[in-house]
Amino acid sequence: MAERNVSIPQWLPSQRELDDLDLLVNDSFSPPLKGFVGPDPASDADPISLVVSAQAAEVAIGVGSLDLVDPEGSPLARVAVTGSYDSGDGWVGLAGPVEQLGRGEFGPFRHLHRSPADLHERYDAGTLLAVPVTRPLTLADIAAITDRAHESGRTPLLLACVGEGMPDGVSGPALVRATLQAAALVGLETQVVAVSVADHGWDGPHGEWRSANHWLLASVAAAFADSVVELDDAAQGPRPEAIEAIVTRDRPPRDSQGVVVFFTGLSGSGKSTLARALIDHILEDGERTVTSLDGDVVRHHLSKGLGFSREDRETNIARIGFVAAEISRHGGVAVCSPIAPFESTRAQVRQMVERAGGGFVLVHVATPLEECERRDRKGLYAKARAGQISDFTGISSPYETPAKAIKIDTTNRDIAQCLDELLDALAADGWLHR
Ligand code: ADX
Repeated sequence: MAERNVSIPQWLPSQRELDDLDLLVNDSFSPPLKGFVGPDPASDADPISLVVSAQAAEVAIGVGSLDLVDPEGSPLARVAVTGSYDSGDGWVGLAGPVEQLGRGEFGPFRHLHRSPADLHERYDAGTLLAVPVTRPLTLADIAAITDRAHESGRTPLLLACVGEGMPDGVSGPALVRATLQAAALVGLETQVVAVSVADHGWDGPHGEWRSANHWLLASVAAAFADSVVELDDAAQGPRPEAIEAIVTRDRPPRDSQGVVVFFTGLSGSGKSTLARALIDHILEDGERTVTSLDGDVVRHHLSKGLGFSREDRETNIARIGFVAAEISRHGGVAVCSPIAPFESTRAQVRQMVERAGGGFVLVHVATPLEECERRDRKGLYAKARAGQISDFTGISSPYETPAKAIKIDTTNRDIAQCLDELLDALAADGWLHR
């Protein structure tokens, strides 16, 4: 094990990079890959990249090493930095071999995270049939695996790909449960291993015929076995009842799934009023639990001290998104009503929520600026026009109109009408009953 060296900088990688690191330290690539690589049109492995802040990169390049730590700060691996490249926006890519310093000890189904070496100790070469699994298997998949196992006389090895964003239509733990169920249905002593294969994109840098994900899945499967069954990317046909039950439990129908209703719009547009009316409706209905994350209210506690620069607004929305995603993870309804002026931040919240298994509904309260300014209930527009408030949304700070959202203009309409329109839209998409 490497010696502790205080001058080596530490870096917390993204979840995708942590998943890649897990594959690297467990020798889960074939042909073998020893570390993070840079963009290289000649290499299929270029999605296995590590990007850090320019500041961290400068120190790491100077010292020649970077320690990667987990979210709790425990060292996981040391990167011997052999190359670097500009990754845009103040970020720098680092390339170089990795040496394991510690291992992740937690996480569901940890005992199923077995390495190729572990499997090769127990199974002779030429006896396993690897099957990368990214979605709950169908009856047709199970029949195909069974046929191939019989033909080849090999033991199926189902590789449940549970890295960031990879499980399709279910959470990581549910994908493992569904895969264990599939293994039981195939029989033949089918083995299940969980692997941290994260989503690197189905379009990928190598063209449609060979996306980053296809390369990654093929490479990892080949590290486990010299014979591989490739299933269709998308499910064809029905799933066995026991697997269907796992999926439904993990992803309930929309009217009982956690959901975030995210209102965005200018100050004074009517977001808070409409959000309040929606919350009251849900409370009166009594079917769901609901939490309000109103912009002004959040700024009194969760985001106390933040201002209105782009950076502070992004932090504010990221906090709201984090809490809302957790609420949706537990099946609740979160009603958020900040201005949230930036499309990219709203997209980030959508991703956080969807990864937590929740639904995300964006509602643009599209009351025009002139009307918001005419109402000016808090007198803020007058102050902004007089230059007493800087960075005021719509006046001296931008508002990016959402490209895709339920659009509600409150001009000359009472709140009951607007709520009615919103409830119709939510019901049409199955989020609630009317
Ligand atoms: S956001 O941009 O970060 O989403 P948020 O919804 O939390 O904004 O806060 C907006 C509220 O803060 C407004 O309704 C208004 O009452 C108040 N406010 C104070 N200063 C500003 C400003 N410069 N721009 C916009 N809203 C402001």
